[in-house]
Amino acid sequence: MASEGSIHHTMFLLVVLPALLFHLGAGQPPESPGRIAVIGAGIGGSAVTHFLQQQFGAQVQIDVYEADRVGGRLATTTVNNQQYESGSASIHSLNLHMQGFVKLLGLKHRKEVAGKNAIFSGEHLVLEETDWYLLNLFRLWWHYGISFLRLQMWVEEIMEKFMRIYKYQAHEYAFSTTEELLRSLGGEHFVNMTQKSVAESLQGIGVSQRFIDDVISAVIRASYGQSVAIPALVGAMSLAGTPGNMWAIEGGNKLVCSGLLKMTKANVIHGKVIAICLHNSEKRPVYEVQYEQEDSIGSDFYDLVIIAAPLHKAGYPISFLNFQLPIQQPNGTYHRVVSSVVHGYLNSSFFGFPDPKLFPFSSILSVESPDSSFHSLESLCPVNVSVGFRRKPPQEAAVWRVLSAHPLDRKELKTLFKSYYSVQVVEWQAFPSYGSSQSLPQIIMHDGLYYLSGVEWAASSVEMSAVAAKNVALLAFNRWYELNEKIDQPDLMHKLKTEL
Ligand SMILES: Cc1cc2nc3c(=O)[nH]c(=O)nc-3n(C[C@H](O)[C@H](O)[C@H](O)COP(=O)(O)OP(=O)(O)OC[C@H]3O[C@@H](n4cnc5c(N)ncnc54)[C@H](O)[C@@H]3O)c2cc1C
Ligand SMILES: *[C@@H]1O[C@H](CO)[C@@H](O)[C@H](O)[C@H]1NC(C)=O
Ligand SMILES: *[C@@H]1O[C@H](CO)[C@@H](O)[C@H](O)[C@H]1NC(C)=O
Ligand SMILES: *[C@@H]1O[C@H](CO)[C@@H](O)[C@H](O)[C@H]1NC(C)=O
Ligand SMILES: *[C@@H]1O[C@H](CO)[C@@H](O)[C@H](O)[C@H]1NC(C)=O
Repeated sequence: MASEGSIHHTMFLLVVLPALLFHLGAGQPPESPGRIAVIGAGIGGSAVTHFLQQQFGAQVQIDVYEADRVGGRLATTTVNNQQYESGSASIHSLNLHMQGFVKLLGLKHRKEVAGKNAIFSGEHLVLEETDWYLLNLFRLWWHYGISFLRLQMWVEEIMEKFMRIYKYQAHEYAFSTTEELLRSLGGEHFVNMTQKSVAESLQGIGVSQRFIDDVISAVIRASYGQSVAIPALVGAMSLAGTPGNMWAIEGGNKLVCSGLLKMTKANVIHGKVIAICLHNSEKRPVYEVQYEQEDSIGSDFYDLVIIAAPLHKAGYPISFLNFQLPIQQPNGTYHRVVSSVVHGYLNSSFFGFPDPKLFPFSSILSVESPDSSFHSLESLCPVNVSVGFRRKPPQEAAVWRVLSAHPLDRKELKTLFKSYYSVQVVEWQAFPSYGSSQSLPQIIMHDGLYYLSGVEWAASSVEMSAVAAKNVALLAFNRWYELNEKIDQPDLMHKLKTEL
C-alpha cells in the first residue's frame, strides 16, 4: 500500500507537474473540468464516478443520471422478507477492482455455502459433481481425456494476460479503444479473440467436440444464454468462473454501487437522459444533457459526459444533437434473459431422482435441447447469510432461480417444480447478442464524450465494466491535460518491467 502511494506521488511529479507547468508557462492556467455528467448508475457508472473523482479531485461536481434503479443489472428481489440476487449473482475472485471497492466501502464477502453442480442434457444428467475432488477429476478424465486439462491451461493463460490491466491502470495508462486495450494485454491474438468463436478456438488447441458439446456449451449457456458461437474472449471469461472462485457481497452486490455514489457525494438525478446536444464554445466544447423526470424536462451543461449505459434499442434511447459528424452508435441488440425466482418444491423426478431426499445438487446447468426450457437452475442463498445458515434439504421448499430465454409458462413451471408459493419474474436485456464478427464500438464519441459500456461487446461482466470505468476515467484525465505519453503506449509490459 505504501509503495502504491509513493508511485502515485512520483507519477504526479514526473507526469502531471510538467504538464501543468507547461500550461502555466503558456499563460493558460490549468483549468480542471467544472462539471461532469455520468449517465447510468450501474457498476460502470458508479465506478467511473469514483475513478473520475480520484483523478480530477473532489472539487469537480459529478452529476449521475439514472432512469431506473441504482445498481442496474446488480439487483435483488424479495421473497419472504429476505432479499435474493435477481441479476448478476457472482463475481470472480480475480476481479481486483471489485475486491478494492468492497474493502474501500467496508463491505464483506458473503459467507460461502457449498453446493454441487450437474449438467442436464434435457433427458438425463450428463455430468455430476461429487464431494470428492479426485473422483470429479477421474470422471472428467474418463469421459473427456485430456480435453479438460487443455481447457484449463487455455483459460489460465488468458486470465494471466488479462490481469496485466491492473498494473497498467495502477500506472495510469489509458487506451483510446477497446482493441488497443486488448492488444496491450495479449497482442493481436487477444484482438482476434473478439472475432473468432470459442468453439473454433478450443478445437484449435485440441479440445474434443464431445467436451465442447457436453460441458462448454452448458457453461456458456448458463452464463450468457448463448451458444459456443460467441467469441473466444467472452467465452473464456465465462469458463474462468468455476465454482469455488466465485464470491458475492453480503447484503447484495448492488451495495457497491450505492456505496460508491454515497462516498463520492455525487449528485444522483433520477431521470431519463433523452438527448446530448453539442454547444461549441471558444475553447472546449460544452455538452447539454437533456433529461426527463416524471412530469418535467430538464437540462444542464457539462465539460465531460460519460455514457455508462448500454445504448441498445430496447433501452432508453439517447439522441445526439448538433454534432457535425454522426455519432457512431453500436448496431447490435441485447440478448433477453428471464430470471424467475421461485419459492417452492423442486420436482427432482424430472432430473431422475424420484426420492427428493437423494437429490444432491444446488445448481443445474442445461445443454441446449428441445426438451430443456431453461439455461440454468440454482438454489439461491439470501444476500444476508447468517452464521448458522444451511441450504434447505431438497425435500423442503427453497428459493430457486431459473434463467431462461422466455418467461416460463405454467406447464414449464409445473415440470420443474412440484408446487410453489411464489414466482417473481425479471426480464433482463442481459448481454450483447454476440455475432460472429462484430466490430467493437468506439470509446471516444467526441472530444469530451465517452462511451463506457461498449466494452460489453468484447466481454460483458461486472469486472469488465469496472475495468472500462477505470480506463475511461484515466483516458478523460490524460486527454484533458494532454498527457499523450499515457495513452495507447505500445509494449507496456516491457516498459513497466524496465521502468521499475
Ligand atoms: C441475469 C444476469 C446474470 C448475470 N450474471 C453475471 C455474473 O454472474 N457475473 C458477472 O460478472 N456479470 C453477470 N451479469 C452481467 C452484469 O450484470 C453486467 O455486465 C454489469 O452489471 C453491467 O453493469 P453496467 O453498469 O455496465 O450496466 P447496467 O448495470 O445495465 O447499468 C446501466 C444503467 O444505466 C441506466 N440507463 C440506461 N439508459 C439510461 C438513460 N438514457 N438515462 C439514464 N439512465 C439510463 C439503466 O437504468 C441502468 O441502471 C449478469 C447479468 C444478468 C442480467
Ligand atoms: C489475427 O487475425 C488476422 C486476420 O484474420 C490474421 O491474419 C492474423 O494472423 C491473426 N493474428 C494472430 C496473432 O492470431
Ligand atoms: C445485510 O447485510 C448488510 C451489509 O452487511 C447490512 O447493512 C444489512 O443491515 C443486513 N441486513 C439484514 C436484514 O441483516
Ligand atoms: C452499423 O451498421 C451500418 C450499416 O449496416 C454500418 O455502416 C456501421 O458501420 C455500423 N456501425 C457499427 C458501430 O458497427
Ligand atoms: C415431475 O417430473 C416428472 C418426470 O419428468 C413428470 O412426470 C411430472 O409431471 C413432473 N411434475 C410433477 C408436478 O410431478
